[in-house]
Amino acid sequence: MNQDALQQRIRQLARERNALLIAHNYQRDEVQAVADITGDSLALSLEAARTDQDVIVFCGVHFMAESAAILAPEKTVLLPRPDSGCPMADMVTAEGLKALKEQHPDATVVTYVNSSAAVKAESDICCTSSNAISVARSLPAKKLLMVPDRNLGRYIARQVPEKDYIFWEGYCPTHDRLKTEEIIKAKADHPDALFMAHPECRPDILDLADHICSTSGMYEFARNNPATTFIVGTEEGILWRLRKENPDKTFIIPSHGLICPNMKLTSLEDILKSLQTLEPRITVPEPIRLRALTSLERMLAVPRD
Ligand code: 13P
Ligand code: SF4
Repeated sequence: MNQDALQQRIRQLARERNALLIAHNYQRDEVQAVADITGDSLALSLEAARTDQDVIVFCGVHFMAESAAILAPEKTVLLPRPDSGCPMADMVTAEGLKALKEQHPDATVVTYVNSSAAVKAESDICCTSSNAISVARSLPAKKLLMVPDRNLGRYIARQVPEKDYIFWEGYCPTHDRLKTEEIIKAKADHPDALFMAHPECRPDILDLADHICSTSGMYEFARNNPATTFIVGTEEGILWRLRKENPDKTFIIPSHGLICPNMKLTSLEDILKSLQTLEPRITVPEPIRLRALTSLERMLAVPRD
């Protein structure tokens, strides 16, 4: 089947199955094109919880589908490629976190949504790249244990300096490999360009940024800013929608390394198969789900700055 035929078949089957197709901003272009909704990890999980459709086909990585299953346990959550993990999420385990908590009993554990349900269950509150500053500011505790992303953690520490921090030393291999020389070169080649960066980038990269935000924050910044050229410090899948929404603007990826292999696994064939079989399903054991849900719900109750 060619791409158009596959996309049509997927749309038809999604209707028959009463399924909502959601895709993260880093998914392959053709996957984003066939989806009902694209967005950042928080927005997609919220959509999954809000929809009255029975089936959620989550085109993203494992922790995202797990968040949807935590928030919407009555729905069938499908992850077309169950092998699409997130290496950063895998850098912390519930046992490892428990051991660190014992060393810091007075700390509040703030866990990035890029984590397993078991780790969320051991946490006090979650955060995402779009609300992490508001979450940190909202907490009464002086000491925060930031898990698992050392770069997001250090970014928050700079923005909310009145707290004391302990960082889990995890990182995103895709964002962490971006180098300052690559940004300096891109800026020299495009002197009028603005540089927008994801907070998973290293601190020396964030020092060079004009704007630091989540993936969906980048769409908003590019749309509302009068600049016409942007250097994009995140995974290259974001270019598809940036270019579609801003045909008169130029977007530059400063490095060949900004590709998340896990985000690229899901193909149209995988989505079709998943809709046909209603597999692979993502579920979370109820005792873990309930505790992870508390961490997510505390995050959702934090007002945005
Ligand atoms: P967003 O929440 O900004 O979409 O980021 C998710 C992610 O995995 C970034 O690498
Ligand atoms: Fe995980 Fe990084 Fe891929 Fe995002 S880009 S899913 S943080 S490995």
